[in-house]
Amino acid sequence: MIRLCAIVLAFLVFPVLSTSFNAKCAEHKIRVTEFGKTKEGKAVYRYVLNNKNGVEAVVITFGAALVSLRTPDRNGKTEDIVLGYDSLDGYEQDKSYFGATIGRYGNRIAGGQFTLDGIVFHLPKNDGPNCLHGGTTGFNKRLWTGVDRSRADVQVLELTYASQDGEEGFPGTLKVQVTYTLPAESNELRIEYSATTDKDTVLNLTNHSYFNLSGKTSQEILGHQLLLHARQFTPVDSTLIPIGELRTVEGTPFDFGKSTLIGARINQDNEQLKYGRGYDHNWVLEKSENGGLQLAAEVFEPTSGRVLEVLTTEPGIQFYSGNFLDGTVRGKGGQLYARRTGFCLETQHFPDSPNHPTFPSTVLKPGQTFRSETVLRFSIRK
Ligand code: GLA
Repeated sequence: MIRLCAIVLAFLVFPVLSTSFNAKCAEHKIRVTEFGKTKEGKAVYRYVLNNKNGVEAVVITFGAALVSLRTPDRNGKTEDIVLGYDSLDGYEQDKSYFGATIGRYGNRIAGGQFTLDGIVFHLPKNDGPNCLHGGTTGFNKRLWTGVDRSRADVQVLELTYASQDGEEGFPGTLKVQVTYTLPAESNELRIEYSATTDKDTVLNLTNHSYFNLSGKTSQEILGHQLLLHARQFTPVDSTLIPIGELRTVEGTPFDFGKSTLIGARINQDNEQLKYGRGYDHNWVLEKSENGGLQLAAEVFEPTSGRVLEVLTTEPGIQFYSGNFLDGTVRGKGGQLYARRTGFCLETQHFPDSPNHPTFPSTVLKPGQTFRSETVLRFSIRK
């Protein structure tokens, strides 16, 4: 009799439990809609990740780009803190790399060429004499495939792209995966990269989001306070190629060892600042003991109270103060993005590493899996 009751009870309770379990899972599914069609007529999808604290990240399959990122300010007001466009057309025309995944090689390769295993590879020169951000049609202009891999307590969007052997001049078929993860409880967006190749190649992957933590892209970012966990940077020549030296930041406008206003020294009479028209340089990050995630940057915006921390497994970070924005680009809500209204913190290997054997290597070989992780952590200071 007792056994019979137990069986009957199990039949009654199981559907109830499993329905609520499914409902809970469904709750965590990422909302997906069509964002538009490319010029070639291919559908681009838009994934909306959100958590319990009002953080919302929107990612599209074109360029695996982060197109919107909403976080609360100190009064609980949620605003978008990244630059971008309202429609796909903007991203197709874009020359600023708003929010995009950058590859195969983030930042510049001198003279658009490098030698690997004795072979010279030629890349497009799309930035004066150099190759920038993977060439003319980098990963930011490619269509990625999105899959929702969410679990009960995290939303996970996996994006994959297969880059053909010889694409933009780079050797080897490269299978790349970028994963955006938003936990339900904690206010952080994790971006993980992995890649494999079938021939020796080079790669340097990053995300090119432009932040304005005030939530007001009409305002310059010069009033943000920046701290960088770095004691050296890689000085550049006039075409922004590292000259090979690791130079101390001590006593220079490049020292962000203590939280300092971005605008405090940006217009100083300094050769490096002149080359970049402001900050557009790679800082050498202090290594964490276990080689894992380490705090690279902390940014505080006083009017909103927003704090952004950037953690990474990468050895470098490009701090770019939006110097090339010139008020001609029409972004979200019709806003014309003026000079220095957004800044980038691109976690990366050093620019032009394939031509600098003393820099940490960017070579990937068959049988190896490249892995890298960057975490954007959001909080509030009263
Ligand atoms: C990177 C580069 C800059 C600039 C931007 C895009 O940050 O270092 O020089 O090209 O991308 O405009």
